Amino acid sequence: MAATESRYQEVYQSWKDDPQSFWGEAAKDVSWYKGWDRVFDPYSGQYGRWFAGAECNTAYNCLDRHVEAGRGDQAALIYDSAVTQTTKTYTYSELTDEVATLAAVLVDLGVKVGDRVLIYMPMIPEAVMAMLACARIGAVHSVVFGGFAANELATRIDDAKPVAIISASCGIEGARVIAYKPLLDKAIEAAKSKPASCLILQRPQAEASMIADRDYDWAEAMALNRSRGRKAEPVVVKATDPLYILYTSGTTGKPKGVVRDNGGHMVALKWTMKNFYNIEPGEVFWAASDVGWVVGHSYICYAPLLHGATTLVYEGKPVGTPDPGAFWRVISQHNVVSLFTAPTAFRAIKKEDPAGSYVGKYDLSCLRALFLAGERADPETLKWAEDKLKVPVIDHWWQTETGWCIAGNPVGLGILPVKHGSPTVAMPGFELHVLDETGKRLGPNVQGTIAIALPMPPGCLPTLWGNDERFRESYLTEFKGYYSTSDGGYLDEDGYVFVMGRTDDVINVAGHRLSTGQMEEVVARHPDVAECAVIGAADKLKGQLPVGFLVLNAGVSKEQKAIEDEVVALVRSEIGPVAAFKNVMVVQRLPKTRSGKILRGTMRKMADGEAWTTPATIDDPAILEEIKGAMAARGLGV
Ligand code: COA
Ligand code: AMP
Repeated sequence: MAATESRYQEVYQSWKDDPQSFWGEAAKDVSWYKGWDRVFDPYSGQYGRWFAGAECNTAYNCLDRHVEAGRGDQAALIYDSAVTQTTKTYTYSELTDEVATLAAVLVDLGVKVGDRVLIYMPMIPEAVMAMLACARIGAVHSVVFGGFAANELATRIDDAKPVAIISASCGIEGARVIAYKPLLDKAIEAAKSKPASCLILQRPQAEASMIADRDYDWAEAMALNRSRGRKAEPVVVKATDPLYILYTSGTTGKPKGVVRDNGGHMVALKWTMKNFYNIEPGEVFWAASDVGWVVGHSYICYAPLLHGATTLVYEGKPVGTPDPGAFWRVISQHNVVSLFTAPTAFRAIKKEDPAGSYVGKYDLSCLRALFLAGERADPETLKWAEDKLKVPVIDHWWQTETGWCIAGNPVGLGILPVKHGSPTVAMPGFELHVLDETGKRLGPNVQGTIAIALPMPPGCLPTLWGNDERFRESYLTEFKGYYSTSDGGYLDEDGYVFVMGRTDDVINVAGHRLSTGQMEEVVARHPDVAECAVIGAADKLKGQLPVGFLVLNAGVSKEQKAIEDEVVALVRSEIGPVAAFKNVMVVQRLPKTRSGKILRGTMRKMADGEAWTTPATIDDPAILEEIKGAMAARGLGV
């Protein structure tokens, strides 16, 4: 479709002209118990609140509403597990029933409106049910990704202070069974705040041992409530009440608890399903992500169900379960119309099947578009996907904080011309500017920090959990009147945004957001390490990979290799396997400025083989040469 046929400009302009009418109109697609006093109240919250005064229930909108409207027999959720070779479909009636029964179990466990419930589960339908059961009774869920270690879980437990935890006995990673329960037990032991109860789903691949008077068996509790016919009805919550907390990496070891509210979140997500993704109710939408990430929250759980579409929960990988045709098998088997995943998944497929020979083995005529997000989509991967799948490949730019895409190419409004390397244009609700360090707006094609003019649209975080001050400091103080994305980039003369990478020490490893600062904090705890630096180096498959540099204490006689291995093991046990921290090297000294700041930026350029110059403020230029040599010995920067 040519640019002139897209309704994007007209729709974006209508939002700009009158944001309140725009979102007020979009809100008609959601069912409310009570309407709002104001679409946007600029005087409450940290930068104003959306749909203040309104009352609603997110789970009702995702489930009961569709059953009442006659969609009860339609598929709501398809579970496809490549690792256990099972598939199971839940209709809207069945899913509503499961969620209402589970919600009653939570009530029996003493969970009340506003209580937090932590969810630590693999990619199984029960993870989605757990999220919706919390939403149904007004409890605030906090899902923690399965690849995080016990210590990370403990940090989140202490911040969210959940009254209950929902987990499963294990996850399955390719051919490996990962027991979750020992990690959970260790985390609870380490946490100061102890949950009163844990609801554990036993999976046959690994039976979990239970702790008396604290752990309850999911199947038993559900069977008991079923036999009693006990279900929980949706409770009325305020639009501005929290729906969930999702922890994401910041610049320090303490993760940020991104808060999502109920009302604005529903309005924004529902709007995107037709206008952005071009999905009709009843169609199958597949986000091949994980419920532990924001994409999983928004597009595995909430948005498809708000829209009356069918969501797909896939337990498996793009490759190895069993082959690089896994995605194509799922698409053709379940009639998927749109796939949403991270570019890294496509790089993994392309690496194993460069010719795309597995694509031809399946009938993919149902597929209309591929959506990519989570990291910069490199043009090479984009072109490969376009060439092999013969459908539009849509890059769109996201953050955990925003909950939906800041910029993208809105298929539902009519596709705009694609410029490889750009996730296209700002979505209604987002007014983007590129700023210099002083907050001055920069012109087209000049790189700076990308900022969003306040207020943020519905669906974006109103604050950080229990920490308004950190919210303001992290996002609102750098540039007055703006939310700073901490992403660097530029806008071109057509308003296309180019997102080039983070301006802070957050890195993106296989579509997973991680903090090098946090890794440094863990590495520094090793008794033989005097100081350290962790940088993100470019990686062909995962986008970036962390690389650690260690300076040892004077007089350490232990073999360097042994210390390096211990440091790798330490990060794995403290942060988790998801950190993919495997490359670490002992060096004599770290390059620093005269004021003692480690030159991580220069080291990163060196590792990536980019041009670098010796900064004028450097303390001792010889150190850079030493680092270069150490990197070259590990195959970096050459
Ligand atoms: N539970 C336990 N461990 C997990 C896990 C989970 N849910 N997810 C990942 N891990 C482990 C992996 O097994 C691996 O362990 P290892 O070091 O022992 O091999 C480690 O964490 C690193 O995982 P990852 O970086 O994901 O590598 P991978 O080789 O397992 O998979 C990809 C590579 C590209 C297939 C995978 O990263 C992927 O699909 N990424 C897309 C991410 C995404 O969807 N992001 C959201 C934005 S859309
Ligand atoms: P997360 O909060 O995990 O979704 O990660 C958000 C970060 O991922 C952003 O700040 C960007 O740095 C990066 N990111 C996400 N989507 C894109 C994209 N389409 N293009 C470039 N970077 C992206």
